[in-house]
Amino acid sequence: MSIWTPQSWRSFPIQQQPSYQDQELLKTVEKNLHKYPPLVFAQETRELYKQLGQVAEGQGFLLQGGDCAETFNDFNAPKIRDTFKVLLQMAVVLTFAASLPVVKVARLAGQYAKPRSSDFETINGVSLPSYRGDIVNSFEFTEAARQPDPNRLTTAYHHSAATLNLLRAFAQGGLADLHQVSKWNLGFVESNPLKERYQDVAQRVQESLRFMEVCGISAQNSPSIRETQLFTSHEALLLNYEEALTRRDSLTGDWYDCSAHMVWIGERTRQLDHAHIEFFRGIHNPVGVKIGPNIKPDELIRLIDNLNPNNTAGRLTLISRMGADNLADKLPALVSRVKQEGRKVVWSSDPMHGNTVKASNDYKTRDFEAILAEIRNFFAIHQAEGTHAGGIHLEMTGENVTECTGGAYGLSESDLSQRYFTQCDPRLNADQVLELAFLIADTFRTARK
Ligand code: PEP
Ligand code: CO
Repeated sequence: MSIWTPQSWRSFPIQQQPSYQDQELLKTVEKNLHKYPPLVFAQETRELYKQLGQVAEGQGFLLQGGDCAETFNDFNAPKIRDTFKVLLQMAVVLTFAASLPVVKVARLAGQYAKPRSSDFETINGVSLPSYRGDIVNSFEFTEAARQPDPNRLTTAYHHSAATLNLLRAFAQGGLADLHQVSKWNLGFVESNPLKERYQDVAQRVQESLRFMEVCGISAQNSPSIRETQLFTSHEALLLNYEEALTRRDSLTGDWYDCSAHMVWIGERTRQLDHAHIEFFRGIHNPVGVKIGPNIKPDELIRLIDNLNPNNTAGRLTLISRMGADNLADKLPALVSRVKQEGRKVVWSSDPMHGNTVKASNDYKTRDFEAILAEIRNFFAIHQAEGTHAGGIHLEMTGENVTECTGGAYGLSESDLSQRYFTQCDPRLNADQVLELAFLIADTFRTARK
């Protein structure tokens, strides 16, 4: 195998990259980014690696979620806070149900680049370059807006830095204190039929805290009660950006992509002889790879060998996104082969990307029932194989959006237009996420019996 460097991906074929007109400007921007401070510290990334190692061994559960695509427009504190709260709320329900540590990884602070099914978008006979996420171009359908702009790489870096700064403040500054658990409910969840069930969990958490305090374990002497650990992640699609933030750790001498703690390769860019696999094989972060219904067991084993040649637990998360209709047909053979070959991976379920449909009124949506069906089946398949259903990967938001149909309120296709804000894929709202958390919790409980 050839020698790896942060730039070695450049001599491999690559998919899904923008074509910039101003190459000189691009070079200047890349050069500057190389000098900017890393966004995360390698030691934090190793901590996540360790925790995911426990998940791979069946001793934990990975909760990964956030926007399909963050945007520069929707960059504000309430939005970050609400996503943070929804993640915490879900984590507390899952921790309580499963009595397993929940590893929280946000799709935030860098989730700006999007792969697209087509290079061009045509509206009323006009064809323009597709929107590829705010790190590349603008959503607006004009010639100028759709032109890839290298300066957006710098803007994305600064937005990521500020988002991460606030997330760290929330995680350590009191918002995540377990005593606050009943306050993580968002305004519109107040009328959720599951509110009482959540309040019941919250109350039991308070009772446990009081008991622990009597025993001498309190927020004052135990940081894990008043603080949480939230890691960041995104799809590492633009390799020039990722390369610029890849640094050699001074403690170990190893290379880390310091744009986030965890990065993943999307379903469209995981070709074995292409640039993304080349870049990922050299970084020491925990990494993910999305796998869709077309992957064959042999190909999966080769993919695993490329990304995790030493078979270290925690290095690799396989994020399955098969679609509710395909899962039963495709996943068992993959899971059983990976088990048979003794490969240590975290199996996570993305129940979103295989279940995207077009509503009759043209909205891109996902049905809550299909999302649930994929999750239930994912658990059932792992139970049958004797493997650990290790995590979940969601597109969700703390905002009161109407983007996915179904759920306790029975959102219909005609409701979608009310608050449909996503520029990319439809997200679960906080009500739907809470409902999902309880359903997963029930699945866990049943599985344990
Ligand atoms: C995504 O996670 O937003 C995405 C594009 O996923 P996939 O690579 O699975 O299609
Ligand atoms: Co998406």
